Amino acid sequence: MRLDPHSYADDAHAKVVALDWEARVDFGRRVLEASATLRLDAPAAAGPLHLDTRGLTITEITGEGGGALAYSLGAEDPILGACLTVTLPAGARAITVRYTTSPEASALQWLEPPQTAGGEHPFLFSQCQAIHARSIIPVQDTPRRRITFTARLRVPVALRGLMAAGFEGRELDAGVAVERWSMPQPIAPYLFALAVGDLASRELGARSVVWAEPSVVDAAAWEFAEVDAMLTAGEALFGPYSWDRFDVLVMPPSFPYGGMENPRLTFVTPTLIAGDRSQARVIGHELAHAWTGNLVTNATAEHFWLNEGWTRYAELRIAEALDGPEIASMLGALCRRDLDEAIARFQKEGRGQLTRLRTHLEGIDPDLAFSVVPYDKGNLFLRAIEGVSGRERFDAFAGRYLESFRFGAVTTEEFLAFTEAELPGVLARVEAPLWIDGEGIPSHAPAQRSARLDAILELGDAMPPADSTFTPTELNLWLERLSRPMPADFCAAVDERFGLTKTGNMEVKVAWLRVAIASGYDVVLDETERVLTTVGRMKYLLPLYTALLARPQTAPLARRVFERAAASYHPIARAVVKGRLDAGG
Ligand code: BES
Ligand code: ZN
Repeated sequence: MRLDPHSYADDAHAKVVALDWEARVDFGRRVLEASATLRLDAPAAAGPLHLDTRGLTITEITGEGGGALAYSLGAEDPILGACLTVTLPAGARAITVRYTTSPEASALQWLEPPQTAGGEHPFLFSQCQAIHARSIIPVQDTPRRRITFTARLRVPVALRGLMAAGFEGRELDAGVAVERWSMPQPIAPYLFALAVGDLASRELGARSVVWAEPSVVDAAAWEFAEVDAMLTAGEALFGPYSWDRFDVLVMPPSFPYGGMENPRLTFVTPTLIAGDRSQARVIGHELAHAWTGNLVTNATAEHFWLNEGWTRYAELRIAEALDGPEIASMLGALCRRDLDEAIARFQKEGRGQLTRLRTHLEGIDPDLAFSVVPYDKGNLFLRAIEGVSGRERFDAFAGRYLESFRFGAVTTEEFLAFTEAELPGVLARVEAPLWIDGEGIPSHAPAQRSARLDAILELGDAMPPADSTFTPTELNLWLERLSRPMPADFCAAVDERFGLTKTGNMEVKVAWLRVAIASGYDVVLDETERVLTTVGRMKYLLPLYTALLARPQTAPLARRVFERAAASYHPIARAVVKGRLDAGG
């Protein structure tokens, strides 16, 4: 039987538990020439092994003795890719697949030098979550099958290869650099990650460095100086950090996410370098995944809330520990606002199913189902449980949850059974079925309260008093709550007072541009176009395109800009933005 609606892996087949990977990075052809030795947990019975692949050109598959094995590659499904069936001889413990990736591999983006900060060298990076690992390695690409791995990466000598793994060494061999890596802790395949580029590092703490292009690395080191304190706070809340190092890699601007929790090496968007340290919370989120995600993940995309909901909860607890409950409540309020917006959108689109925590995603591309719902509805559900059980009991419960499912993958049903056993009666009191299978947000959902938050909410559309000082988060929240349209003289005054169009803080900038576009304050259209053509983070692209599409005067601009920028977008961002344009906003 299939283990996961997004994988061909079959629970009756052998389990792949380890990978030895060798790959040559070919920037000219935009391919990886690779070999993958897949090791099984036990000697196999004779019979088939189903692996996930997408766009791989397979040259041969051999057994341990080097003899060729029979295999067949099924048709490419647009979402799942192609099922590779290898016929295992009785007693097989390992197979080796030699293959080349496609130049269109969905996990990879190959950047030309002009698309990087330095402009001189090409750059390559991977993004495997949710189901793209199969486009670079043949695997059982479901979080239910974890693997350890070793890797040898051959890269041009002028460049540095990095992997989300432990570094073992770099040697020169016939004019190329060979970098060796190993990952002894079992990871879900979506956490397999690599990047190659002109990269330098700076120390952030005893267990952390930040990697970035040389022209960016000092600013990045300043921006992320709090990482060590976050690690300490995370360990105090959730127990020892299991992944040895916590390094951060600043990606080129086309990186489609804010951050990606690749183990030992979190990937982040360069838009986090705001010059005010205000975006470090994204790092806090990715760090939190070290416990809630990388250690205990969701069994399949249908239970994604167990990954991101727990991580949002943990991120806000880290923020509370480091910055205090007032700041954490402000962040919680921003999250709630984004959540309500996402739910309204899904309902409008007739996709209310995606506002449930437990989803049904057979035949649905997880990238196209992505939203903040699993994050923020998941967080609110956990907070509701915390509310009735009390923080002390909840923390003990969270600790036992992480311990019991360590290096595992959990379904919603398993979570509910565990919670009922550990906190009897609590699920009934929070009306768990409304959260899990109901659409929207239950009316008794926990609300955020704090004095500073109330002060912002009370302002409404009024200009803040001249002596008030806003943190970027407060400014963001105030802007997001403004009515629209606002009068042009108000827009001009706000822009002037807070320097919004020019701000380096992308959260604030995008919140502002949305208000301004919706108000017909067309002074900002040049800056909007600049953002849409230089930044690839979907969190910013989508609301800006939507704001432009909402007005007949600016809708054509949205389509024009997309035509111009699409080629430089990451393939995931291109597909998701195109979906939004096709839906008319
Ligand atoms: N793991 C996610 C990013 C992701 C999710 C990639 C699904 C592919 C598929 C990451 O941890 C994340 O949630 N990033 C957020 C940051 C945040 C919530 C602070 C982002 O990218 O905005
Ligand atoms: Zn996350």
